[in-house]
Amino acid sequence: MDSLSITGGTRLDGTIRISGAKNAALPLQASCLMTDRPVQLDNMPALADTRLMADLLEHLGKQTSQNGDSWQMSGKVGRLDAPYELVSQMRASILVMGPLLASHGEAQVSLPGGCAIGTRPVDLHIRAMQQLGAQVELADGYVKARAPKGLKGCEITFPFVSVGATENAMMAACLAEGTTRLVNAAREPEIVDLATCLNQMGARISGAGGDVITIEGVTSMSGCRHQVVADRVEAGSYAIGAAMCGGTVRLSHIDPDLIASLTDKMVEAGVNITTDTDSLTIDGDGRFQAVDVQTLPYPGFPTDLQAQFMAMMCLAEGRSTIYETIFENRYMHVPELVRMGADIVVDGRRAVVTGKKALLAAPVMATDLRASVSLVLAAMATSGTTIIGNIYHLDRGYADLEKKLGDCGARMERIN
Ligand code: UD1
Repeated sequence: MDSLSITGGTRLDGTIRISGAKNAALPLQASCLMTDRPVQLDNMPALADTRLMADLLEHLGKQTSQNGDSWQMSGKVGRLDAPYELVSQMRASILVMGPLLASHGEAQVSLPGGCAIGTRPVDLHIRAMQQLGAQVELADGYVKARAPKGLKGCEITFPFVSVGATENAMMAACLAEGTTRLVNAAREPEIVDLATCLNQMGARISGAGGDVITIEGVTSMSGCRHQVVADRVEAGSYAIGAAMCGGTVRLSHIDPDLIASLTDKMVEAGVNITTDTDSLTIDGDGRFQAVDVQTLPYPGFPTDLQAQFMAMMCLAEGRSTIYETIFENRYMHVPELVRMGADIVVDGRRAVVTGKKALLAAPVMATDLRASVSLVLAAMATSGTTIIGNIYHLDRGYADLEKKLGDCGARMERIN
């Protein structure tokens, strides 16, 4: 397993080009299963997760190729199963279920199993497929779904907001007979991006970005070329890094509105942020006040930035309360931050962080994707050398992290 050696204490100065969003790319890749025509995705992030999704598409019979950040998918689907070896490595593999079922009347997808940030069941995905008329059985560790006569449009009301279930249902409904309404749908920018791409492929989706999405079924989908939306979590992580280390960092190729829930909180904490149409600049001096946050579905504060924001609050003046409403077990970074001298007390979903003047370098272990990057940010803000073990997780979600931060002055080195 690789480790990352980070020597902190330097300012960050420069421009970071934000990549395409992992969480948009994965469902977009899955959507190509609904057509035999070529689909080209531009601005694709080169990540372990997007490569794994490409492997899954190849397993299903698709041909995939890459030319820089343009990825092409073409050819016919040849099989309808997503095996445990692939799904267990990445929960988002479940996103092939809707497209396969809608276009081929059948899908067998391994249950993802437990995951570091809670149990994360897939019951909402399954229920949505059933409501669209699929027969679903759970056998041999697989979700086996069949709809030999095709799916039928219906109204699906989600009991709570799920990004993945909204995406799976939206893709499946594109080829269902009649109209589908998704009520209490997720409103994330990645959902809007997926709907835009699907509409280019011939789907008839309206309302994406709101909490009711309407899909009028069509009989076939065509190919398309689509640009993946910017990664708001990557941008948010680096914005927090600039605030913690001090320095002037411009984040380019991103609509600042996508991370307004974060930047509003950062401004409230006293960080200077200016925005342009497709960039934002963080001007930090490493000093800021404690503010409280609660994670919520978009447009609320994203759970995927909770760990990074907590790392920032470890160095704030005062005491901050962080409340995680999306996942029941998303505080794995806490013991590691405490090893670095942070003062954090967790009580269920609530964490109280009392800011310290400094964090200390210490050997720590990366646990999940966003927890890992919170440790990178904390390490950059110490004055010593921190070794972060098990950094595989970082490669799942951050394209060229060492180069992007290194170009701004951070000192980090990967160790085998
Ligand atoms: C997506 C993101 C992930 C982000 C999360 C919440 C991708 C690839 N991943 O994950 O980075 O942290 O949204 O913004 O886009 N749930 C159920 N049953 C289900 C589905 C979900 O109980 O069938 C629960 C989950 O356990 C969680 C909550 O619903 O507590 C929200 O999860 P969901 O929005 O579905 O997350 P993902 O789509 O898996």
